[in-house]
Parts: sequence; structure tokens; C-alpha cells
Amino acid sequence: MAKTSYEDLLVYFNGDFVPWAEATIHVYSPAVKYGAGVFEGIRGYWSDADEHMHLFRVADHLRRLEYSQKMMRFDRIVTADEFTAPLQELIRRNGFRESVHIRPTVYVDGTGESAAQGPVGVFIVAIPRGTPKHVHKGCRVQVSSWQRSPDLAMPSRVKANANYNNSRFAAIQAKVDGYDAALMLNARGQVSEGPGMCIFMVRGGVPTTPSVTSNILESITRATLIDLLRDRLGLTSVEREIDRSELYDAEEAFFCGTLWEITPIIEFDGIPVGDGTVGPVTKELQRAYFDLVMGVAPDPHGWRTTL
Ligand SMILES: Cc1ncc(COP(=O)(O)O)c(C=O)c1O
Repeated sequence: MAKTSYEDLLVYFNGDFVPWAEATIHVYSPAVKYGAGVFEGIRGYWSDADEHMHLFRVADHLRRLEYSQKMMRFDRIVTADEFTAPLQELIRRNGFRESVHIRPTVYVDGTGESAAQGPVGVFIVAIPRGTPKHVHKGCRVQVSSWQRSPDLAMPSRVKANANYNNSRFAAIQAKVDGYDAALMLNARGQVSEGPGMCIFMVRGGVPTTPSVTSNILESITRATLIDLLRDRLGLTSVEREIDRSELYDAEEAFFCGTLWEITPIIEFDGIPVGDGTVGPVTKELQRAYFDLVMGVAPDPHGWRTTL
């Protein structure tokens, strides 16, 4: 049966599976005061066809979570191995029969100040989560006047909770100005990423995405799509710096990420991308991606964990 209320869910919280209402953190913790935490977002795809949950690239997400903790210099690193069993057990105990979003988090507990390195706490939340809103018809994007934070200030490749304040400025501006989503440039004025997703454009037939040194989170979906474009569509992607003015000349563009999956972009700043509808490369890539994550296509890299 589909879960309807978060209150019905169990949360993995510092070693126990507890009711939703009991998974709380003290108001004076560095996690609350300074956003001192790192997290991951992982999807689990429920397949009605085979009645299984397919988790996508869990090991890669948990490896990135280790890196984020190291960069934040937490006094204890919660390893991928430590997370694996409770994460799977959480899915089983909640009895999900629908697709989910899973958020493993490591945070600084206690009463310290902004440089406190511990004690660290751990939780994993999993909630029902379906397809994003604009995945079929595409979204209208504003190139934000807010910049993606530079590597020397708040490195985007660290998936730290506090980084999302930078995302927030751009996302709210886009919403208030009547767009569906924001795209940020970096301090060098080149295309970086959206508030919670990376970007590709197809320009001159070439799938092109900002390089990992463009102040982006090193997106696991982005890496997956580079593979699928090559292996399933026969297209070699280019990772390079992208100028803003190139966006307006692209035949196609799309956001990608665990949450955004492959969300087509049909306008930048009111200017249609291509003919203003979802293009053929984007559509074919969506098919390849959803077949892979849903357990339909072969999984040559062993990216799926089937529960
Ligand atoms: C800022 C940001 N960029 C990109 C992404 C995409 O990363 P991934 O594909 O690993 O989910 C995310 C998270 O989904 C994100 O929060």
C-alpha cells in the first residue's frame, strides 16, 4: 500500500529505527546552528512489473558521502560499509511499494561552535518520491544573477547542507520571477549548475556539459548519462567550460540529477531552446535512463541494488 504520511515512516537514527516524530536533533547543535552536515540523495525505483525496489548507484553515493565528511574534517568518518546495511533495512522495514528518495546524512551533534568536528550523528530518511514535475514537457529556466560559490569558498563538490543556501538564493529568485528553475554561472561567468542538478546542452549535435572544475557537484547522474550517451546513443560527450551565450544557440538542453532525473529545458531567459519542445536526444536518453534505473535494461556496471 502506498504510504501517505511521513508520520507513518521509520527513520534510521543513530543506530536505531525510530518513528518519524522521534528523529530529532537539539536546537543548539552545530547541525542546526551552522548547517554542519553532509548528505546524499539516492533514488529507489519501485517496479510494479517485478515487484522489487531498485536502488541506483548506492555505492557511488556512499563513497561521495565519505569524501564530503573528510572535507568537513569530521572527527569520525561514517563509512559506506557502515551505511549499506541500515539503508537497505530501512527500505525493508518501511515496506515501500513505490519509488523513494533516500537521504543518508552525517551531522555535527553536541553543543559546539562552527568549527566543531564532532560528535557526529547519523540518520537516514526515506520518503516516497515520484517523477519530477517537468520531466515530460520540460522547464523554463532563468540564468541567475546569483553565482555558484567558488571552490575556495564553499566547494560545490562537497555535498554539505550549508551549500544549499547558495542554491536557495537562485531557486527563490527564479520562482519569484516566474521561471520553473534556475541555472547558475560561476565566478568566472561560465555555466556551472542548477541549485540541485547539473546541466547538458546539445550544440552542433554534441552533448556538452560543464567540466568538473566548473564549480559543480560531481554528479553521479551526469557520469551515468555520459556513459549512456556513448553506449546507447553512440554520442561522445564533451566536458568543458561553457559560455552563457552558447546556451541560447543549443538545439537541446536538459538538467540531470538524482532528483531531477533528466528534465528537459525548453527555454533560457524566455528564449526557446531549439524549437521550444523536448528534442530527440533528450527523449532517447530519458528512455535509456529510465529503462536502466527501473530494472528493465541490462546493468553491465552493476549499478542497481535490487531489494
Ligand atoms: C547541487 C547539485 N548538483 C548536482 C546534483 C546532481 O548530483 P547527482 O547526479 O549525484 O544526484 C545534485 C544532487 O542531486 C545537487 O544537489
